[in-house]
Amino acid sequence: MAVIEINHPLIQHKLTILRSVETDTKSFRENLNEIAKLMTYEATKGLKVDEYEVTTPLMKMKGYTLGEKVAIVPILRAGLGMVDGILDLLPTAKVGHIGVYRDEKTLEPVYYYCKLPEDISLRKVIVIDPMLATGGSAVAAINYLREFKVKDIIFMCLVAAPEGLSKLLNKHPEVDIYTAKIDQGLNENGYIYPGLGDCGDRIFGTK
Ligand code: PRP
Ligand code: URA
Repeated sequence: MAVIEINHPLIQHKLTILRSVETDTKSFRENLNEIAKLMTYEATKGLKVDEYEVTTPLMKMKGYTLGEKVAIVPILRAGLGMVDGILDLLPTAKVGHIGVYRDEKTLEPVYYYCKLPEDISLRKVIVIDPMLATGGSAVAAINYLREFKVKDIIFMCLVAAPEGLSKLLNKHPEVDIYTAKIDQGLNENGYIYPGLGDCGDRIFGTK
């Protein structure tokens, strides 16, 4: 179990663009996917590889191929904003979807949709959601994946509140959490502070 905050200059630069209230929908989407791609490079460091023999123009040598099957599971809606960036690096990954939204008053997660690859239990699963606020949505999504016998899960988000990290670590201590930044906390409406606002609305231009 680990919380990994990826402190990379390119990520810090792009995350600042996302935070800015001046950033428009197009630029928000582009930068979110670029960060997701950079984070994937870090988050997949532990992937197993299989060895095989490759012949270069000069000689035979030991080569490597990815030895694990991966599935990406975005939490709808905002998780969708990271999928393309991840698929740039993992083009053969399958993609499942889990729909969970936060009730605006109670902040409790409300489940509404799920479609997963049939062989999900055999895959390493990267659950993605840009925002880990109270942690309710992430915990609900991972609970659901456990019902499908998924064993190997990592969680990847853009911004995490300490409250959400505590909850996720407490409920699923075996899940490694990758985040671009741990922010100060939650405000009275359950928004991450300073955060970047409502991520789904900023990706899809719904407000
Ligand atoms: C946002 C965000 C996370 C959740 C985080 O989704 O994308 O899924 O809130 O909050 P939590 O950690 O307190 O559960 P939202 O409910 O706004 O739905 P949307 O992505 O469909 O807009
Ligand atoms: N969901 C968001 O989109 N932003 C937050 O700050 C918290 C939850």
